[in-house]
Amino acid sequence: MLGQLFSKSGAAVLAALCAFAVRAQGVPETQVLLAPSAGARVVAMIATTPQVAQRYDPTQARFTPDPQLVALGRQLFHDTRLSEPSGTSCASCHDPARAFGPDLRRGLRDTEKSPGTALGSRAGQFGQRAAPSLLYVRYVPRRYFYQDDDALVPSFFGGLMADASSDSLAEQVSAPLLNPREMHNRSAAHLLARLKGNGVAQMLVPRFGEQVKSDSKALLEALGTSLQAYLQSDELSPFTSKFDRFIRGQGQLDTAELRGLALFKNPDKGNCASCHTVSETASRPERSLFTDFGYEALASPRNKRLVENRNPRYFDNGLCETAKKLKWPEPEQWCGYVRTPGLRNVAIRQSFMHNGSLTSLREVMEFYNTRGTDPVRWFGKSGAFNDLAPQFHDNVNVNSPPLNRKPGSAVALSDADIDDLVSFLRTLTDERYVALMPPVLQRR
Ligand code: HEC
Ligand code: HEC
Repeated sequence: MLGQLFSKSGAAVLAALCAFAVRAQGVPETQVLLAPSAGARVVAMIATTPQVAQRYDPTQARFTPDPQLVALGRQLFHDTRLSEPSGTSCASCHDPARAFGPDLRRGLRDTEKSPGTALGSRAGQFGQRAAPSLLYVRYVPRRYFYQDDDALVPSFFGGLMADASSDSLAEQVSAPLLNPREMHNRSAAHLLARLKGNGVAQMLVPRFGEQVKSDSKALLEALGTSLQAYLQSDELSPFTSKFDRFIRGQGQLDTAELRGLALFKNPDKGNCASCHTVSETASRPERSLFTDFGYEALASPRNKRLVENRNPRYFDNGLCETAKKLKWPEPEQWCGYVRTPGLRNVAIRQSFMHNGSLTSLREVMEFYNTRGTDPVRWFGKSGAFNDLAPQFHDNVNVNSPPLNRKPGSAVALSDADIDDLVSFLRTLTDERYVALMPPVLQRR
């Protein structure tokens, strides 16, 4: 967000947005649903995206999905007939045994290496981005803008996928189903023909009617409604981590973990909480989802193992692709921005960042700490951000500590600080997954 304020085009953007705000005065004061039953007053529209009067508050969201739909959604989530060829279910990449995130070794031959993203339904075809954990995904609000009193321009929040390309869980479902590198159905019509033939569509008839066998839109809606109900169920928001026991007064953090929490919050040290929201004094775990659902351009290093990155001119530019589709003014100001992920269960991941470029939690901490002071380590000889088209480098956040350092200057975090931060992040692992955490990497 800061990157945007300080970008060269800031004034032009401000003018454009003001024009929008004026035009939007005619907008009736409506409510939008950012999450089930968490309505929000709309004060303006930025193209097709609402600007609301108040930030979304996850503690206000209520989830009461119909138990029958949840059961149907759970069944579909594990159904390997949804992919072409069949064999890959949602659970293949969002494995319940791995916090609904991927096991990157799944489906690989011993000699085959994972590029940091999950295998799709065809041999040797891997996803373009890292699959996130789907635990707590129900709290991700729909897309919205919000402008703080002291901010010059509205900031953007919410939406699913790293680039907000989906607005809701129900809508998101068609993305993996139709992605050639994931479930590889060629089109909605093709999906309809397949699911009619293999019995999946028939499963949906009692609930959604015969049209799911003849109308691809009705079929996708039925799949989306069911899978959304499952993802919104309490099964996917367990809140059983050591940190949760701590905030409920049912357990303690040890001294290293407490030091890590303090560094996580300290604006001059980790400063992590400025994006990864935490409120350890509130007993409600929804106050600590470790994301504000906002977007940032951090310039994660290029993942050279991804096939598209063999083309030096290819860049995954994140949010600006969505900004263009949604017709926001000056979409390019959003190039490089991706959603801040929640950090619960992050300690069991096998790859990190939207592009899967980093491979351990300690490496992520070192990236934050030394991106500014030692750019050559992350971006190669030139030291220039290497996973974002050069014309967008000004969008990158160079203001938030610890990312605000210059080459050769002192780092914000010592090695011991990084150990403590990692210790703290490990307390965010739900009970069921604690045994999956890799041993702590020893420094030196
Ligand atoms: C081949 C692996 C793969 C399969 C199969 C797959 N996904 Fe995903 N999923 C991903 C990746 C990769 C992303 C992140 C994409 C992005 O950021 O653009 C993702 C993102 C998501 C998200 C958004 C999460 C967030 O925090 O924004 C949801 C929801 C989701 N998947 C649900 C599903 C469902 C439901 C299915 C089955 C219909 C499914 N996925 C099948 C790999 C997969
Ligand atoms: C300015 C906002 C901001 C700050 C400050 C920040 N983060 Fe992040 N964090 C992000 C964003 C955005 C991403 C996603 C980057 C990407 O996908 O390329 C991210 C990604 C991560 C990831 C990888 C998660 C995953 O699932 O791959 C970890 C771990 C993490 N941050 C921890 C931290 C810690 C610890 C700190 C403090 C030292 C911190 N972050 C500071 C915004 C921030």
